[in-house]
Amino acid sequence: MKIGLFSSKKYDKVVFHQINSGQHEITYHPVRLNKDTVKLASGFEAICCFVNDEIDASVIASLSNMNVKLLALRCAGFNNVDLPAAKANNLPICRVPEYSPHAVAEHTCALILDLNRNIHRAHNRIRENDYSLDGLLGFDLHGKTVGVIGAGKIGRAFIKIMLGFGCNIQVCDPDYAQPDNPKIKKGDLDDVLQNSNIISLHCPLVPSTHHMINQAAIDKMKPGVMLINTSRGGLVDTSAVIRALKNKKIGHLGLDVYEEESEMFFEDFSDTFIQDDVFARLQTFPNVTITGHQAFFTKEALEKIARTTLTNIEHFQRGEFDKVHFVST
Ligand code: NAI
Repeated sequence: MKIGLFSSKKYDKVVFHQINSGQHEITYHPVRLNKDTVKLASGFEAICCFVNDEIDASVIASLSNMNVKLLALRCAGFNNVDLPAAKANNLPICRVPEYSPHAVAEHTCALILDLNRNIHRAHNRIRENDYSLDGLLGFDLHGKTVGVIGAGKIGRAFIKIMLGFGCNIQVCDPDYAQPDNPKIKKGDLDDVLQNSNIISLHCPLVPSTHHMINQAAIDKMKPGVMLINTSRGGLVDTSAVIRALKNKKIGHLGLDVYEEESEMFFEDFSDTFIQDDVFARLQTFPNVTITGHQAFFTKEALEKIARTTLTNIEHFQRGEFDKVHFVST
């Protein structure tokens, strides 16, 4: 198939080229797909997109007019796609439902360890020949309660890791069955908010979960709680979180995602300045660690993403629709 791959980076090219081995004709567009760039989709049978492409109703209508047959997401989440518009235009959408839950779970853990033990600050101090320990005090993870909101593939991989540290787990997820393990308790969102020393988000962003971590939710949390979001930025009301950092209700914040990330993440702005004042404020806190949507970014995950995306396209081309990981519209 002729595939137009948007938001492409050097590493996408390397891995897709290696796994494709000449079977499909792939054109790599470094720009994000949105209403301004959609004309670049002309002439392709399949369009391949990532997390920050803006696949709204106007983009979908244009793709449909251009006779694009398939929109292949090379990610798990599909909150950036207008699904009713895709249905109305008969544009099938497929995705990579799972590539490496371990990659995201391990990165979540990396944020927790970094924040708790102040690794980023210690690293900078040592480079300045400052070997003092004031301000670097952490706490034992052992015996603490970790709240997990969403125990799907990533949430469950994360729970396994945190059990290894000797943590107690408080889960909320309507689809999670209470396991036979006294260290894990299933409850509702309030149980997680009220009982946890660390709260980690692993549920999808849908209208009902937008800003699920808002002022009211923060009010229910333990003072000094650590909040980690490696899921989707829109789950968290950033302004409420900044207020809670200022009054110390939130003791640590780890983010791999940010609600307004699409204008910034995955690009190099090091020779300019940040326009987003909320994001700039976040960066002023010593107890906030932010990574730029890199939780998925392991060798294994990239290979699985490319392989599943190309397999989806191949099954679609052959009419083996039962083997395609469609997003239901
Ligand atoms: P999954 O579909 O396996 O699990 C999601 C779980 O959330 C399900 O068990 C579901 O029942 C639960 N859930 C849904 N609504 C909920 C609610 N209101 N409260 C509590 N639980 C709820 O998805 P998976 O693979 O575990 O991924 C989770 C999220 O991680 C994705 O939606 C995506 O946004 C994010 N992600 C982030 C990546 C990154 O690089 N930072 C990479 C991959 C995924």
